[in-house]
Amino acid sequence: MKQLAVSAIRNGTVIDQIDSKSTFIVSEILKLHEEEQEVLVGINLSSKKLKKKGIIKIAGKILTKEEVNKIALIAPDATLNIIKDYEVQKKIKVELTGAIKEIVKCFNPNCVSNHQIVHHQFEVVCKQPVKLRCHYCERIMTGKDIRLI
Ligand code: CTP
Ligand code: ZN
Repeated sequence: MKQLAVSAIRNGTVIDQIDSKSTFIVSEILKLHEEEQEVLVGINLSSKKLKKKGIIKIAGKILTKEEVNKIALIAPDATLNIIKDYEVQKKIKVELTGAIKEIVKCFNPNCVSNHQIVHHQFEVVCKQPVKLRCHYCERIMTGKDIRLI
């Protein structure tokens, strides 16, 4: 059996193929320090697909759609592995789905969403490279404009 750089988990989710430098940002936005169960993190691991990859293993966790959307914004190449009884049950490439609510702030300083208490909301115009349209002012934001709340 091949040697794992980060120990296997019994049940939970492994976020793999994270661009190494984004690994701690993913951990931060998912608030993984607040999890009850173990979270294992590896960075600068060698990978066939990426130069250096990061990996996050979260015991006992099934990610919500909102959490997957957050990962897709920060680490679009990441793969989710659902682990049950030590076996990989499912491999899912992260992708943006549905409306993006309360994750991203509009970059237009005059947008109503930056002045009134309304829900920040965007429609996905393009998944990769990511393009989001503000529900209120209809401005399109691309990767470099996207600021997480
Ligand atoms: N993994 C884990 N605990 C397990 C099973 C798998 O932490 N009980 C992790 C592995 O370390 C790996 C990921 O889940 O990072 C996917 O496992 P697997 O499909 O076995 O690995 P690879 O074949 O290397 O995956 P890929 O083809 O996606 O690179
Ligand atoms: Zn706007």
